[in-house]
Amino acid sequence: MVEVATSLLNVKKEEVIKTLYNLEVAGTDYIQIDVMDGKFVEDNTTEKMNEYAEYVKQVTNLPLDIHLMVKDVESYIKSYLALDPYCITFHIEACKNKKEIMKFIDLIKESNVKVGIAISPNTPIEDIYEYLPYIHKVIVMSVEPGKGGQEFIENTIEKISNLNIFNYENGFEVDIEVDGGINDKTGKECTDAGANILVAGTYIIKSGDYKKAILSLK
Ligand code: DX5
Repeated sequence: MVEVATSLLNVKKEEVIKTLYNLEVAGTDYIQIDVMDGKFVEDNTTEKMNEYAEYVKQVTNLPLDIHLMVKDVESYIKSYLALDPYCITFHIEACKNKKEIMKFIDLIKESNVKVGIAISPNTPIEDIYEYLPYIHKVIVMSVEPGKGGQEFIENTIEKISNLNIFNYENGFEVDIEVDGGINDKTGKECTDAGANILVAGTYIIKSGDYKKAILSLK
């Protein structure tokens, strides 16, 4: 069963409340909060995303899916745990070593929040295999982290397929989420390869019919 997370990255502040109401009615499964610190990636969305995360809690019953594109992973985990999110995902590229990764995984799980690891396009999928027994989700980035509205990177499909096979052969049930350049065409390529959660920002927000766009991904 394919689930859909809608990214608010390119939603204007003056439209966010109305957008949230409409997304909930349209049937998005999650709201993705793309937190960027201006260090791990160029843009800084920290203030906007903190505000949007608060709105999600206040005006919807939608699960908050936090995607940290930050260098100081620990401090952002701690600040977002306060919002009792559904899941917090951090980038493997922002971590120094396995010890630190395991520390962050435990920090999130201790608060009964699901944990994900995200990998950027140039990171080999094998780099996250050793963490699969401890996490709930892998975000396979299909664009360079840092901006919405980019083109889907085609070699992502092979990474999804390899992860799906490794997941299955080892009896893991880790969610495979794909984020970046997702539309009905690229989304189907990803789900055919084994992804079960699709993140879309532009495709849904600019669709003019959220429900139709979300259903086309499912
Ligand atoms: C990149 C972001 C985007 C966003 C969705 O750092 O994570 O992938 O969520 O972007 P589009 O507009 O491509 O769906």
